[in-house]
Amino acid sequence: MHDKRTPAIHAFEDGQQFRLLVQSVVDYAIYMLDPDGYICNWNEGGRRIKGYDDEEIIGQHFSRFYVPADRDAGEPQYGLRMARENGRYEKEGWRLRKDGSRFWASVVIDPIVIDGQLIGYAKVTRDVTERHESTLRLAEAQHALLQAKKIEAIGKLTLGLSHDFNNLLGVIVNSLDLISAHRDDEKRVTRLVEGALRAADRGTLLTRQLLSFARGQALAPEVLDINELVLGMKDVLLRACGVGIEIDLSLATDLPSVRVDRTQLEAALLNLVINSRDSFADKGRITVATGLADRRPPEIESSVEDFVCVCVVDNGPGMSEDVVQQAVQPFFTTKEVGRGSGLGLSQAHGFAAQSGGYLHIDSEPDQGTRVTMYFPALED
Ligand SMILES: Nc1ncnc2c1ncn2[C@@H]1O[C@H](COP(=O)(O)OP(=O)(O)OP(=O)(O)O)[C@@H](O)[C@H]1O
Ligand SMILES: [Mg+2]
Repeated sequence: MHDKRTPAIHAFEDGQQFRLLVQSVVDYAIYMLDPDGYICNWNEGGRRIKGYDDEEIIGQHFSRFYVPADRDAGEPQYGLRMARENGRYEKEGWRLRKDGSRFWASVVIDPIVIDGQLIGYAKVTRDVTERHESTLRLAEAQHALLQAKKIEAIGKLTLGLSHDFNNLLGVIVNSLDLISAHRDDEKRVTRLVEGALRAADRGTLLTRQLLSFARGQALAPEVLDINELVLGMKDVLLRACGVGIEIDLSLATDLPSVRVDRTQLEAALLNLVINSRDSFADKGRITVATGLADRRPPEIESSVEDFVCVCVVDNGPGMSEDVVQQAVQPFFTTKEVGRGSGLGLSQAHGFAAQSGGYLHIDSEPDQGTRVTMYFPALED
């Protein structure tokens, strides 16, 4: 059918329709602002969301909807400037209703430019308080969950440590009992004393680890010869391993000195050897080797050229890739409650890093394990 309306009628009707459209939007407050931010016009949504009547708002500056802190900080002017400069401005924040209550608003400001001249701004505001609150509630719930998990982890740790210490004390008390009952059986007494000493060593190591974990390790570095330190520890290492396990030392000659904390290095070595021992079902072979690093660990950002390394190698069951990834994290353990607290590798790793070095784990299932600590070599 032929349309008899003139273009003027079209324009009028289109304009009318458009106004009707804007007016009937009730979920969005739509305003037109003049170039200085004074409100020229707004829609039903604006009246509904903000609670004002036309005569209270038309001609007012739009900053009256902002909370005082944002108004004082110049947020309204900043929004207009950003819209002018970038062609659009989007932001979320608190706004005020007529009755003084706050709502969380999502705001978009677009500049209106005709023939290159700014004639005002279109501003669209949406009340997204519900969404905002549910986001906050979700964050709160996540925080609470994290807190609960931490408490659970501390509970597990305390449980594990109490078991550990109980076991160790049990070994010591039993040994002393048996010693006093069999004073004359020299061989038996020697074995019992060794067992008790082993348990006491383990207890000492455990407290040392807990202390250094709690304090973040205050180191007392000194210049030392790693070979000498390893040799001096041989008896302790042998005792830690017990029967069925062989320990070899393979020490490189002419090694440069290093500057590290002696007690921490001893604890780290003992940790690595005990880890190897624990991985064996019954028998196994452990090698403690020293040397100059043949390649510089790529992870290290340091001007040092040479690194002295000490590594503990075993022919045990090795670790899965997943375990290797997590092994140095504090409290990560695959051992049952009371058999490990997950602090050994974390101590060795933290100590090596704090000494300007690095710890590297090489391990695959059924291929054994090699854990290497690198320390910067001293020049002279
Ligand atoms: N030589 C190894 N062979 C196989 N798995 C190992 C070896 N060393 C470490 N792991 C794995 O890495 C985990 C973490 O070792 P870490 O020394 O940090 O803690 P832990 O030995 O479990 O407990 P803790 O040392 O505090 O008594 C171990 O539980 C084990 O699964
Ligand atoms: Mg360990």
